[in-house]
Amino acid sequence: MTETNTPTALIMIFGATGDLAHRKLFPSLYRLYKKGRLTDRFAVLGVARRSLTLEEFQESVRKSIVEFTGEQDGLDEFASHFYYQSHDVTDSSSYIQLRELANKLDEHYGLEGNRLFYLAMAPEFFGTIGDHLKLDGLTDTAGYKRLVIEKPFGHDFESAQELNNRLRQAFSEEEIYRIDHYLGKAMVQNIQVIRFANALFEPLWNNRYISNIQVTSSETLGVEERGRYYEKSGALRDMVQNHMLQMVALLAMEPPIKLNTEEIRSEKVRALRSLRPMSQDEVNQYFVRGQYDEGTINGESVPGYRTEPMVDPESNTETYVAGKLVIDNFRWAGVPFYIRTGKRLGSKSTKIVVQFKDIPMNLYYNTDEKLTPNLLVIHIQPEEGVTLHLNAKKSGSGMKTTPVRLSTASKSIDRMNTPEAYEKLLYDSMRGDATNFTHWDEVALSWKFVDAISAVWENTKETTFPNYAAGSDGPQVADQLLEKDGFEWWPVENLEIDNC
Ligand code: BG6
Repeated sequence: MTETNTPTALIMIFGATGDLAHRKLFPSLYRLYKKGRLTDRFAVLGVARRSLTLEEFQESVRKSIVEFTGEQDGLDEFASHFYYQSHDVTDSSSYIQLRELANKLDEHYGLEGNRLFYLAMAPEFFGTIGDHLKLDGLTDTAGYKRLVIEKPFGHDFESAQELNNRLRQAFSEEEIYRIDHYLGKAMVQNIQVIRFANALFEPLWNNRYISNIQVTSSETLGVEERGRYYEKSGALRDMVQNHMLQMVALLAMEPPIKLNTEEIRSEKVRALRSLRPMSQDEVNQYFVRGQYDEGTINGESVPGYRTEPMVDPESNTETYVAGKLVIDNFRWAGVPFYIRTGKRLGSKSTKIVVQFKDIPMNLYYNTDEKLTPNLLVIHIQPEEGVTLHLNAKKSGSGMKTTPVRLSTASKSIDRMNTPEAYEKLLYDSMRGDATNFTHWDEVALSWKFVDAISAVWENTKETTFPNYAAGSDGPQVADQLLEKDGFEWWPVENLEIDNC
C-alpha cells in the first residue's frame, strides 16, 4: 500500500458528462481540494462521447460545484485543472490521443505518472475500456495505476467473473477499486469501531446474547429514469448483492488481527463464506419480494412501478426484498440476520437494529410493565448516530420500569463538514487504501448467494405484484417472514434519534 496524505494523480473519469460525475465526483474532488487533501499537483481528464470544448467542460464542472456544494471559493483555479476529451470507447485512436494528453498533463503538473482511471459509465463498456487502457499504453506508466469501478460489477456470478478476468489482464487485484458507496458512509465505517473499540459490545456480540439483527434500507424515491437498468436488476441486484450484504459482513465478521486492508477484507470474506446457501425450494421461505403500486408520498400521488418509464406494464421485477440470512459459524449459529430494502417506502432511512436476548428472568413482570428488549440501533442515514435502548425505573414511588434511550448523534456536527461517501472513497483510492472497496472474493460470494435467489424469482411470475402501496411500510409478506420466527421488524420511525 503506497500512502501519502496529499496524493498526486491524473484522474481520468470515463463518463465525465454523466450524473455521477456531476453530482458526486466533481463536488467531492472540490471538497478535497478545499481541505488541502489535493495539492495543485492533480489534473482531471474528463472523457465522454459528447463533443465539448474545454471551456464548456470547465463551465459544467463549475456549475456542478456551485449546485452541489453551494460554494465557489477558489473555483476558477480548481476548474483550471480539468481537461476534456471527446472519446469513442471502442476506438484505439481515441485512446492513443488520450495517452498523449495524459503524458502532457503528467509533465505539466508533475504527477509522477500516477493514474487513476475512474469508470463512471454504462457497465457494458467496463471490459472494453480495461482492454484498451492496456492495449493502447495508458497503463504503461511510471507511477501507480488504479482502476476505480462503479457498480454493477457484473449481472450475476458468471458475468462478474468474466469481467474480472478481463480487467485482470490490465490491472492486478490490488489495483482494482470496486466501489460500494455504502462503505464510504461514516456510520457504516463506524460499525467496526463500535464493535471492536468498546469493551461493552464485543463480549456480547454473539449468539449467547443477541437474538436477531435487522438491517433496513428504505427509500422514498422510485425507480426514476432508471427503468431500463432497474428492470434487469431489481432490488436484489441493485441493493442486496452489494450494500446490504456488505453491512451484514461488517456486522458478522470476526475481529481482524490488524486493522489493515488485507485482514479486514479477509474477515469479511469469511463471514460471507459462512452464509448458509439455499436450495431452490428454500428460497421463498427465506426471501420475499415486493413491487410498489401507486400511492402517496409526502402528500403527493406517485405512480406504481409498472407505469414508470421504460418499465414493462406486466413487470415481474422486485422493488422490495426482505430476507433472512443464516450464518453458519460458531458465533452466529441460531441468530437470524434479517434484511429489507425497497423503493417508494414511507421514509428514507438506513438503520441497523441489534436486538439482545431477554434476560433469563424478568423480576419486573408483576409490575404490569413488559420489559422491552435491549436494542443497539446504528443510524446510518439520514441521521448518523447510535442509540442504546435500556430499561430503567419509572420516576416516583414503586418499582415500575420504563424504556430509556442513550443516544449519541453526530447531527450537532455541522453537516457540511461530514465528508460525503464519495469524498472519502476518492481520497482513499488516491492514497492507495482499498479497505473500503470490495475485494473480488467478496463480490464473487455475494453474487453466488444472490444468484440462487434470482434463479427462482426470474422463473416464477409473482402473481401478487404489485403488493405494496407507495408510501407504505412494504408488503405484508415481509412481516410474515419474521412472525414465523416469533419476531417483528422494529418500526424505523419509532427508532429515530429525535424520538428519544
Ligand atoms: C444505489 C442504487 O447503489 O444505491 C440505487 O443503485 C439506490 O437504486 C442507492 O437508490 C441508495 O443509496 P443511498 O446512499 O441513497 O442509500
